[in-house]
Amino acid sequence: MKVVGSIEELVVWCDRYRAAGLSVGFVPTMGALHQGHVSLFLAAKAECDRVVVSIFVNPTQFGPGEDLEKYPKTPESDLEACRRAGVDLAFFGTASDMYPRHFQTWVSADELSRPLCGRSRPGHFRGVATVVAQLLNLVKPHRAYFGLKDYQQLLVIRRLAMDLHFDTEIRACQTVREGDGLAMSSRNAYLDARARQVAPRIYRALLAARALAIGGEQRVAQIRKRLLEELQPGPELEVDYAEVLNAEDLSEFEGGVASGSPSGILIAVAARVGRARLIDNLVIPPS
Ligand code: PAJ
Repeated sequence: MKVVGSIEELVVWCDRYRAAGLSVGFVPTMGALHQGHVSLFLAAKAECDRVVVSIFVNPTQFGPGEDLEKYPKTPESDLEACRRAGVDLAFFGTASDMYPRHFQTWVSADELSRPLCGRSRPGHFRGVATVVAQLLNLVKPHRAYFGLKDYQQLLVIRRLAMDLHFDTEIRACQTVREGDGLAMSSRNAYLDARARQVAPRIYRALLAARALAIGGEQRVAQIRKRLLEELQPGPELEVDYAEVLNAEDLSEFEGGVASGSPSGILIAVAARVGRARLIDNLVIPPS
């Protein structure tokens, strides 16, 4: 496995792969790698000749007062995880490379960035979209892999790839969970023992809300009510949002979910549990 620390080296290697006629799969990450990330590496490995992973804690997607400084960094075990998964090239990005002096060009998917996480994290998706656009231009992958766990991020990136004509297929991968249903996340490292016990409530609430909707409940308010009942908001679990939206464009349903859901139903939660802000979701595909 190649490990590179500059965008010049990254470009040289990726150009070399393509010139040799090899297909390139790309997985951008912020490190502190877990099985969720590894599932993306393996999906890329199964479909592409070469797998490129970036590890960069992107400062522009963190707001003031968020966890940029505290974000877990585990470069040694990250490299080991990459090696074990058969990654061909790991790129460690630096802020001075990605955001040199005078940097001032931004990418943002306006509508998709407004609801859900966009509301409590203004500027977050602009930071994500900008760094992903840069990375796609550097790696020029045939396919890039993203987790459904960050559903809104996936939609933003699909939109940017379409709108800006990136010649990269955006692939979505299922959320990988702990045994008790908690979605794997680098931020789970912030959970103390008590918070770790409380956190699986999020997935249980999503399951209960999904069961209600699949069982025929069409009233969004009722599905949201079930979600909140199961979340039991309080000091141990502070709900940021608990929403039921159109899975295609994150618009709100008018007139019930069944009549307005040819594109699927997204049930999404963000909550603060202990020191961590956790997000999770389930999508009910169109019937
Ligand atoms: P990060 O949180 O490190 O996640 C990198 C990728 O792993 C994302 O596509 C995310 O959806 C996916 N992922 C995280 N947890 C997962 C899980 N439990 N199951 C499946 N996939 C999971 O998302 C980012 O980094 C950044 O915003 C980034 C896209 C790298 C831009 O900076």
